[in-house]
Amino acid sequence: MRVRGYSCRHFEFESWSNMRTQNSSAAPKRSFHLVKKELKGQLPRVTLLVVLASVGAGVGLIQPLLFKSLLDNAIPAADLRQIVLLLAGMVVVPVLSAGLHSANHYLRSYIGEGVSQRLRQELFDHLLHVRFADLEQFKVGEHIHRLTSACGKIGEVYVSEHLLPFVMNAILLAGTLAAMAALNWRLCLLALLAFPLSYLLTRKTRGYAQGLYREFSKVLEDGKSYLHEVFPGLRTIRVFNAETHEKMRWHRWIDRHWRVKAKVHTFHELIRTVMPEFINYTAAGLIYGYGAFEIINGRMTVGGLVAFVAYLPRSYSVLQALLGTHVNLQEARVNAEMVDALFDLSKEPSGETLLPSTQMAGAALTFQNVSFDYGRGDFGVQDLTFHVASGEFIGVVGPSGGGKSTIFDLILGFYAPQSGMIAIDGVNLRELSLATVRSQIGFVSQDTFLWNDSIGKNILYPDRGDDTDRSRQAAQEAQIDEFIMALPDDYETVVGEQGMTLSGGERQRIAIARALLQNPRLLLLDEATSALDALTEQRVRTAIDKARVGRTTIVVAHRLITVLQADRIMVIDKGQIIEMGNLQELLARRGFFYDLYQAQSLDLPQSVL
Ligand SMILES: Nc1ncnc2c1ncn2[C@@H]1O[C@H](COP(=O)(O)OP(=O)(O)O)[C@@H](O)[C@H]1O
Ligand SMILES: [Mg+2]
Repeated sequence: MRVRGYSCRHFEFESWSNMRTQNSSAAPKRSFHLVKKELKGQLPRVTLLVVLASVGAGVGLIQPLLFKSLLDNAIPAADLRQIVLLLAGMVVVPVLSAGLHSANHYLRSYIGEGVSQRLRQELFDHLLHVRFADLEQFKVGEHIHRLTSACGKIGEVYVSEHLLPFVMNAILLAGTLAAMAALNWRLCLLALLAFPLSYLLTRKTRGYAQGLYREFSKVLEDGKSYLHEVFPGLRTIRVFNAETHEKMRWHRWIDRHWRVKAKVHTFHELIRTVMPEFINYTAAGLIYGYGAFEIINGRMTVGGLVAFVAYLPRSYSVLQALLGTHVNLQEARVNAEMVDALFDLSKEPSGETLLPSTQMAGAALTFQNVSFDYGRGDFGVQDLTFHVASGEFIGVVGPSGGGKSTIFDLILGFYAPQSGMIAIDGVNLRELSLATVRSQIGFVSQDTFLWNDSIGKNILYPDRGDDTDRSRQAAQEAQIDEFIMALPDDYETVVGEQGMTLSGGERQRIAIARALLQNPRLLLLDEATSALDALTEQRVRTAIDKARVGRTTIVVAHRLITVLQADRIMVIDKGQIIEMGNLQELLARRGFFYDLYQAQSLDLPQSVL
């Protein structure tokens, strides 16, 4: 995207201090609220999942009881029929368990994926409307990472692997503990000791886990941001022979990624496998020892102890899952914080008043004491006051960086002035619906943006069907039809990413055609002829002259010749109007404009000489 200012933040791998995801303990509300909303929407599936999990837990509990019956009853009684039946049960139960487990897994993934998709959709919708001033705080790579991976992690890691398993494990644990307590409550208490131990472990590692995941996410975002910059910048890299420099930057990223990833893996292994196994083995030893004592004292049968020990892995796999979900929760939480940081950005403020399109042919525009800066402390525009009447043609000239494009940014509502008022047709821009304002403006920006799509689609953007006649007419007006028709696929020719396969001048004329198709009441052209050769510029000038009939037109021009026909010309420097008037008046002043005029070797009209 090439909206001014957006996407320009320079990429730096080492910007560690610049982490905007805080170490806050407050829950990331927006994301979790959306998770809840989606789960509510999927309530039938969630209910089915809980039912399946309960049935699964019940079925799973049968197996150890079959062992007990075999050892304590069937074998001592030498009852062959019972032994065969029990063995059959031992085959059927695991098959049933596996089936239930698969159904369970499918449902969990389905529900979790639903959560990710909802987050992605809502975040995307939100970002489409966020103010540029807010968007600029983030790099494009960060938007991409959060929209794809971070949203995905919340659905996958939080919902599928934490929340839903947590509910299911709680059911399973309750059943398993009940069965164990029924066999021998003293042993059950002993087994339960593992739980407070694990809880302590999760408490102690929570802060570390969050820090680790923040670090990991930052690395991933930085990598995406870098790649997003490096390929479009390849020409510059090669011209400066900077391949080695970039290779080293990428190498530093790989190295960082490698180190952090290794830490993440080690931590996962420790919490999910090593610790539960350690607790498991220790507890199993204690239980066998104490169990032997219970058997000797006649409080337990051998079959009972075998059954009890068979429940152990079940209860510990629940423990392991709970420890795993602790890790998942921290990871999901960090991702939710990152997503929330984007949800927290403010949307463009828009009024409700509709701007009628039928009022006058061209829109009237007023700037009254308008001041604005981009937040860097320096000017954008300062105390700007002017009025453009309906149908007027205004030329804007002045040194680069003077604030010309900023004026357009303000008219389009990309930024809001800090003070003063902008009015269209006498109505304060703040009160107007931005959508109606924009629908009446044809805007060609300084750096033209084209989609990687056919020229026809680009001209008819956003989707005005297949109106070839209209797109051709607009292209003819913009002096680009001839060029397009000479291409092998004429209007079907695909222009490459950001219009890469076209020259600057060709891109500009396609953008002019696109703007004209809007049939705007206010036409804003920002250096739209800067990349054209003198001959084409002359033709586009003729086109602008035709196009501005019945419209208000403001043309920012680098070359004065483009705006010599203007009703009035505004000279902008340091965010202020330093001169304004028609050509004769400006030349007669012998000021900045006069010097510029002479510097561009233009002939002075007789009246001025
Ligand atoms: N998105 C932005 N963020 C911060 N500063 C900006 C941004 N866009 C422009 N500026 C600054 O505002 C000033 C006016 O810029 P601009 O309106 O683009 O000038 P012009 O179009 O006359 O060349 C310049 O100093 C420029 O660096
Ligand atoms: Mg500019």
